[in-house]
Amino acid sequence: MNPRKLLVFLIICSLSCGPSLVSSNNVNLEFQFFNLRNLTLLGDSYLRNGVVGLTRDLEVPSSSSGSIIYNYPIAFFDPETNVTASFSTRFAFSIDNINPTSFGDGLTFFLSPNNQTLGSPGGFLGLVNSSQLTKNRFIAVEFDTKLDLDFNDPDGNHVGLDIDSLISVKTANPMLRAINLKSGNLITAWIDYSNERKKVEVFLSYSSFKPDEPLLTVDIDLSDYLKEFMFAGFSASTEGSTELHHIQNWSFQTTGFRPVRPRIHSHNVSDSSVPLRPPPIPVSDSGNRHHKRIGLALGIGCPAFFCAVLVVFGWVSVKKWRGIRTDKSLKAELVTGPREFNYKELKSATKGFHQSRILGHGAFGTVYKAFFVDLGTISAVKRSKHSHEGKSEFLSELSIIACLRHKNLVQLQGWCVEKGELLLVYEFMPNGSLDKVLYQDSESGKTLKWSYRYNIAVGLASALTYLHQECEQQVIHRDIKTSNIMLDGSYNARLGDFGLARLMDHDKSPVSTLTAGTMGYLAPEYLQYGKATEKTDVFSYGVVILELACGRRPIEREEESQKTVNLVDWVWKLYSEGKIVAAADERMTGEFDEAGMKKLLLVGLSCANPDSSERPSMRRVLQILNNEAEPVVVPKVKPSLTFSNSLPLSINEIFSDGEDCGSPKSQLDIRVD
Ligand SMILES: *[C@@H]1O[C@H](CO)[C@@H](O)[C@H](O)[C@H]1NC(C)=O
Ligand SMILES: *[C@@H]1O[C@H](CO)[C@@H](O)[C@H](O)[C@H]1NC(C)=O
Ligand SMILES: *[C@@H]1O[C@H](CO)[C@@H](O)[C@H](O)[C@H]1NC(C)=O
Ligand SMILES: *[C@@H]1O[C@H](CO)[C@@H](O)[C@H](O)[C@H]1NC(C)=O
Ligand SMILES: *[C@@H]1O[C@H](CO)[C@@H](O)[C@H](O)[C@H]1NC(C)=O
Ligand SMILES: *[C@@H]1O[C@H](CO)[C@@H](O)[C@H](O)[C@H]1NC(C)=O
Repeated sequence: MNPRKLLVFLIICSLSCGPSLVSSNNVNLEFQFFNLRNLTLLGDSYLRNGVVGLTRDLEVPSSSSGSIIYNYPIAFFDPETNVTASFSTRFAFSIDNINPTSFGDGLTFFLSPNNQTLGSPGGFLGLVNSSQLTKNRFIAVEFDTKLDLDFNDPDGNHVGLDIDSLISVKTANPMLRAINLKSGNLITAWIDYSNERKKVEVFLSYSSFKPDEPLLTVDIDLSDYLKEFMFAGFSASTEGSTELHHIQNWSFQTTGFRPVRPRIHSHNVSDSSVPLRPPPIPVSDSGNRHHKRIGLALGIGCPAFFCAVLVVFGWVSVKKWRGIRTDKSLKAELVTGPREFNYKELKSATKGFHQSRILGHGAFGTVYKAFFVDLGTISAVKRSKHSHEGKSEFLSELSIIACLRHKNLVQLQGWCVEKGELLLVYEFMPNGSLDKVLYQDSESGKTLKWSYRYNIAVGLASALTYLHQECEQQVIHRDIKTSNIMLDGSYNARLGDFGLARLMDHDKSPVSTLTAGTMGYLAPEYLQYGKATEKTDVFSYGVVILELACGRRPIEREEESQKTVNLVDWVWKLYSEGKIVAAADERMTGEFDEAGMKKLLLVGLSCANPDSSERPSMRRVLQILNNEAEPVVVPKVKPSLTFSNSLPLSINEIFSDGEDCGSPKSQLDIRVD
């Protein structure tokens, strides 16, 4: 065994021999509030202020479904001891209706062998696919607020246990405990399964004290359904309604596994506890067993072994160790998310990068549509001809991008670095980019509806709040513009090209002239100093919002006078004259909510304020758009900006930080699209 390998074992050992010698592989999760890092959001679910929303929270007349799933598999069955775990969970939820006459369908807590469980809107509770009713496997407790005769529902207010089907095994009416699921009040639910007693019990209360008597009791042996590893989550759906489904907090435990032996697969983490890396998802059974054996062997002799190895390998430099570690963790991270594609695969999926497959050209390179025949999927492939020398640096940047997950970001599915080319594989967005929909489609008489526009503004704000404030490492986008905003099947905004500016920073090739940003969207201080910050992103967002509201490009040439008109100046002038709503896109023919339009325009102006310190944060913008915060007061006259010594940054600071394009000359490289 070479020293490196031993060292890796040492790391595995020190991770596993601590807690696993004393604890079993029972799981204990506690979320006092929710955190994106532990959850996968599917469908229309979202996270706001630590609270999960399962369905869309806007008045869109279409239906919505969503689910959230805890990222790591939970053990429910131990094949070596033939033990099935018992479990108990508690969560606080609310189901509100903005419009009391239109009900949604309700929500579920579920366990599933699959981490992608998402069902259809309507009566399917976000759990079952309407076109393949028997596809998804689950054990779920439904909190159903709509009478659906297809699934033998007793009424529009019931709790039921569902196994692989929405036709409940047994239901109960919460009115027995004077509880109305649709009341909008916070309700706490407890679900307990005892494998010894073969019994599921569900308790409900408006308070956070567990009642003595369960509302629903089902005598059932779940050991046939509880697999070795399952994923836990919540799902919900609406049916053309405005019902909101929120989960405030959640705790989950399994019990019953005896502490037989140390196992790598034990996890005992709570949201406030030690930053132990989550266990890797087992790839195959044999590999798994192999790991266990290592854990066992090293676990027994661990303290002695640890000391011996420490002495022997004292000479290994920290630098070397770091190298190994980043390599390992990098691979681990990339394995669970996006994967590496091989060049051949991508080449054949794009018909050899054929012209007919070109979807567009971006700052990063050309975008192709790719059909993966074997998988039956479509993706978008971005192809860059930039050479990427420092491959490990590049991979570490890529791993940051790969870890970004948000329902309003275009998800990276994979990458390929081969033959001096870099290819990135993304989800395919059927409705194309916002600029196309906003400008080209309207030429053919189609106009983007107001409700969609507002929804896009909110989605984009949500994505940027995530990139700026919620993800592990802050990401400045640097190139927010309508052609980078994609629209999914339901016209939700999906921001693309995030993190690419970071990748480009590491491109050391001397001919690189890429300066992130596009004329018309660049904040004045960025043009002046070339320094990208959160606030320069906010500026670009402001311009996009004004475009959405006005249906005009950021810089337009007037037909008669041939004068160029800057959108921000134009809207600000109308605002000064007290007629801001006149800026609204004429093509909507007045079909919009005037107060909402005014709000959107004012948010746009406040974001596009020339003075960066006056611009709101993206979080604030999101709150304003969701009516959770007061709008920012916008000065009647557009502030004029002078770059003076009073600016907090000195020129030296700006040009020495090496993060950006470096010389004032590079401003000349800014592309004008
Ligand atoms: C989790 O760890 C804590 C402290 O390390 C311990 O007190 C607790 O019993 C453990 N829980 C389980 C379920 O093993
Ligand atoms: C495992 O347990 C189940 C019931 O709990 C029993 O039917 C089965 O025979 C057991 N299998 C083994 C291999 O012990
Ligand atoms: C249902 O299944 C079909 C076919 O597999 C798929 O295209 C569709 O996206 C699924 N719907 C949901 C909501 O997952
Ligand atoms: C869950 O959240 C609700 C509402 O915020 C709160 O009343 C309750 O005490 C919380 N429960 C736990 C265990 O944190
Ligand atoms: C959730 O993620 C946070 C931050 O990464 C981590 O500290 C915490 O332990 C995780 N909690 C669970 C229950 O996995
Ligand atoms: C789901 O789990 C599989 C392995 O069980 C893993 O490869 C995949 O990355 C997971 N997907 C998500 C979105 O977590």
